[in-house]
Amino acid sequence: MPKKIVILTGAGISAESGIKTFRDPDGLWEGHRPEEVATPEAFRRDPEMVYRFYNARRNRLQSGRIEPNPAHLALVRLEQAIGDSFLLVTQNVDNLHERAGTKRIIHMHGELMKKRCQYCSTISTYDRDLTTEDQCSSCGETGGMRPHIVWFGEMPFELDRIWSEVADCEVFAAIGTSGVVEPAASLVHEARRTGADTFCFSLDSPENRGAFDNFIEGKAGETVPPWVDQFIASAS
Ligand code: APR
Repeated sequence: MPKKIVILTGAGISAESGIKTFRDPDGLWEGHRPEEVATPEAFRRDPEMVYRFYNARRNRLQSGRIEPNPAHLALVRLEQAIGDSFLLVTQNVDNLHERAGTKRIIHMHGELMKKRCQYCSTISTYDRDLTTEDQCSSCGETGGMRPHIVWFGEMPFELDRIWSEVADCEVFAAIGTSGVVEPAASLVHEARRTGADTFCFSLDSPENRGAFDNFIEGKAGETVPPWVDQFIASAS
């Protein structure tokens, strides 16, 4: 039986695909920090601004200029090698893991390509900009459609399952995440507590660097593929 692996990814894995990370020095959008736009309060106060922010991100993701990079592709090879022993938990709302071919994935912070009705909670994919005029195709209410994104102050998705998978894994690897946003930042502690070998791949030392057994510094597109290939070779 191959070792059970949980991979946690953050914005850094998509950086080489051309998506800005959250805590980039130039990470401002129209003069706002993401923490000012990605909140339920911001959506209540100024839904048009929040729609503009997510519509822009979604349009860029679909522009044809953003593609999965070698780190996304390496994780697909890993999944194909170990099957059900693999789980990818991502904080990213982009769809680059799926576009690369990943199947076993949890989007703990939601998905940019989906919207959710605030009245009936129906989740659906959508293919044009969200506006305050949009009507829910399920309950018929107007003005309640929101990006299917976990905003600051909201509960991430599938936490129970994530926690138990992490408690059960033998290898835990965090890739391209700054280790400041909870509860994702604490998953490594649970992995360590239950005896997993822990790896951190990042361009800079993250906040929770000290919690990992191994730190691999550099661009994910360069560091993750050789690690995956070595892992597959040693597992076979
Ligand atoms: N390869 C590896 N790591 C990289 C690369 C790269 N090419 N480029 C940047 N990084 C690292 C940075 O050094 C940083 O530590 O990726 C990390 C990105 O950190 P953040 O921008 O904070 O992204 P993330 O950890 O995913 O943010 C967590 O915060 O705003 C919320 O909900 C949002 O999911 C997001 C959460």
